[in-house]
Order: sequence, then C-alpha cells, then structure tokens
Amino acid sequence: MTIKEKEKVGNLIRSVKDFPEKGVIFRDITTALKDKKGLEIVIKDFTDRYKDKEIDYVVGADARGFIFGAAIAYNIGAGFVPARKPGKLPAEVESVEYSLEYGKNSIEIHKDAFKKGSKILIVDDLLATGGTAKAMVQLVEKLEAKVYELAFMIELTDLKGRELLEGYDVYSQLKY
Ligand code: PRP
Ligand code: ADE
Ligand code: MG
Repeated sequence: MTIKEKEKVGNLIRSVKDFPEKGVIFRDITTALKDKKGLEIVIKDFTDRYKDKEIDYVVGADARGFIFGAAIAYNIGAGFVPARKPGKLPAEVESVEYSLEYGKNSIEIHKDAFKKGSKILIVDDLLATGGTAKAMVQLVEKLEAKVYELAFMIELTDLKGRELLEGYDVYSQLKY
C-alpha cells in the first residue's frame, strides 16, 4: 500500500470516543469500507501480499474478520473458514477463551475445518490486545495446521497485541 493510499484509507476511518465504554477510542472501519476506493485499496493490498503464497485457507474472526476474509480467500484462490463466537457453529468444534480490550469471550472453529498441516492465513479487522488473534492461533494449532501470518487492517500499537503474538508474523496496513 502506498503512503498516499494509507492516507486515503486513514482519512476514511472514523474515530468515536468512549465507545463501547469510556476511555476507548473506537476505530470505525464502516466509513472506509463503504467507500468503493477505500474498499478496493484495502482488499487489493491484502490480495497482492498473499496471492502467490499457496495459502490453503483464510480463517476470519467473527464478525469483522469475515468482511476481509472471504474477499481475500476468493482473490488468492484459497478456501474461507469462519472462526465464530460461541454457539453458532452446528458441527463439532474446538473452542478457546480469550479476553479483549472491553470484555471476555470465546471463539470456536469446526474440528474438521481443515487437514493437518494446512497453510493458514488468519485475518481480522483490527489488532488491539491480541486476545482474539492469539485465540485464533490456538484454534488453528489445535487442528494441527500452520499459521503462515496474521493480517489486520488496523493495529493499535499501544495495546501491544504484537507482543502477545511473538514468534508469529504479523502484518497490519495502518497503525494507530
Ligand atoms: C474486535 C475486533 C477484533 C478484536 C480486537 O472484535 O474486531 O476482532 O476486537 O481486540 P483484541 O485484539 O483485544 O482481541 P469484537 O469481538 O469486539 O467484535 P466484532 O464481532 O464486531 O468483530
Ligand atoms: N476492537 C478492540 N478495540 C477496538 C477499537 N479501539 N476500535 C475498534 N475495534 C476494536
Ligand atoms: Mg472482531
């Protein structure tokens, strides 16, 4: 992504103070994604980065990770696998608990989502404390697959999510 493109997308992201609770500055991606140029820049950048990497599956985190995950998977010729909030997946699941900037939750993946040794790209909209991303890594590894990289549109550097993901490759398009 060029500096000009980063500026363009950065200017399209809306920052909302004290949402969902006091002290949080919420980085709202909806204002960037509804802009067709903004959407194109973001998806094209991920596509260019991963298209020749022989990724087997893109795993997207419920819910905002789905927006990027399926588009990237389609563009790079990989399958798409959703990691979902609890109680949403119908077949047998693996489950991991995690905490995030504002709360606690767990995330699940179908046990038969991919074959052992599959090459996985994990995708989400935003890296904050890294709780969600770490849980995604744990899910992938419970299925004995390999994490190629984790990709985010936004990284909140102060929250040090990257440190929680030490040992894994992390890519983010925009840092706050
Ligand atoms: C948000 C965001 C990331 C996560 C990042 O998801 O989409 O998935 O928080 O925070 P962390 O790095 O501290 O884990 P959230 O679960 O709030 O909601 P969503 O369903 O809208 O994706
Ligand atoms: N998820 C966790 N922290 C967030 C933030 N500050 N803005 C948007 N999504 C988030
Ligand atoms: Mg999320």
